[in-house]
Amino acid sequence: MNVLLIGSGGREHALAWALSKSPQLERLYVSPGNPGTAKLGENVVIDVADHAAVIAFCRLNRIGFVIVGPEAPLVAGLVNDLAAAGILCFGPSREAARLEGSKAFTKALCDEARVPTAAYARFTEAEPAKAYVRTQGAPIVVKADGLAAGKGVVVAASVAEAEAAVDMMFSGGLGAAGAEVVIEECLIGEEASFFVLCDGDTALPLASAQDHKRVGDGDTGPNTGGMGAYSPAPVMTAEVERRTMEEIVLPSVRAMKARGTPFRGVLFAGLMITAAGPKLIEYNVRFGDPECEVLMPRLATDLLDLLIASAEGRLNEKTVAWRPEAALTVVFAAENYPGKPVTGTEIRNVAAAEAKPDVLVFHAGTKTDPTGRLLAAGGRVLAVTALGATVREAQTRAYDALAAIDWPGGFHRTDIGRLAVEREEGRG
Ligand code: AMP
Ligand code: GLY
Repeated sequence: MNVLLIGSGGREHALAWALSKSPQLERLYVSPGNPGTAKLGENVVIDVADHAAVIAFCRLNRIGFVIVGPEAPLVAGLVNDLAAAGILCFGPSREAARLEGSKAFTKALCDEARVPTAAYARFTEAEPAKAYVRTQGAPIVVKADGLAAGKGVVVAASVAEAEAAVDMMFSGGLGAAGAEVVIEECLIGEEASFFVLCDGDTALPLASAQDHKRVGDGDTGPNTGGMGAYSPAPVMTAEVERRTMEEIVLPSVRAMKARGTPFRGVLFAGLMITAAGPKLIEYNVRFGDPECEVLMPRLATDLLDLLIASAEGRLNEKTVAWRPEAALTVVFAAENYPGKPVTGTEIRNVAAAEAKPDVLVFHAGTKTDPTGRLLAAGGRVLAVTALGATVREAQTRAYDALAAIDWPGGFHRTDIGRLAVEREEGRG
């Protein structure tokens, strides 16, 4: 089967790496892809916002299956239009993608399905929102309703900070995403990401991971798309996972089906594991990045076969196996990220890192110049990933591999996996 994978990040390189192991795969096209995916398939330039162009490419190249990596094309209804053209596609419809595209939608679904989540209120004007903040007190969380590229959530430590966030959102600071604002109770606990493959009816749990969102060591500095991750997350014990499926995922999947908008694709539950059990922070409707970079190396089942089963409604026939090792990835980012990154700097010796045992280097924001040099071309540039018998071993291998890469223009956190290692070693 010929496959078209849409996206350009470390997530898509990891997906391409896993797909390339499938005996069912004939040709793999990635749009737009990156220098990492170019080694596994053919990078092609298609305007993904132009759904007719995607359909035309699929027809011309006999694409049997399209896999959408990022959220924006899902929210824009690419899957709807491909399905209408008779092209099989992995990912949710526009209607089901609202689980990520609208925080207010997800909160309403949680109410309907009695899913444990933070108490909240919705606002379309600043004054009542600020009055609510004052009655609730701090800490409190202010969220723009729509997609805001990771900038739409403010965990405010004070009432003044929350009021400023409300003003910023309603004065257009995040564009249309901030036309409606959700204000939530601040949940206390440890965060985990949990991934579940869905086909509208069946929900097949994949695995857990933990991300590191802040740019600096010790979880300091501004939020990023994620500076590193590891899988599995020790906080997701079998009992927490069982409760997450029963109390959060399955009621949500049933409610989406009952609404006539069944959820197909990968449901990424952002969880807070509180003293009272798991609570939903948010849903995403795609694999996480960099979480995908630690899930794929651990996956011991044919990814393409699983994704096709999700699209075809046959997940009830499937099981998933995982390698017993832990995986850990360290994001190597360009200077000044998450501000405007310094791009164009040369990266050398990636091959030396990749040559180390149990190491994979996924490209996220790179490009090659005409002379074949590898250059930084984004904020998050490489995801240096390793497997190990323990998180500690995976961490040691990932940092050893990273040290082999010669890139003066890059920086990284030095404490990815710290909590899990402390737990493993009885210090957590
Ligand atoms: P999001 O962009 O929705 O992933 O949110 C970014 C981060 O904000 C999450 O990963 C959490 O760390 C934090 N956050 C969001 N909502 C809450 C909440 N209700 N309580 C505590 N932290 C939250
Ligand atoms: N790493 C978090 C995300 O992909 O949204």
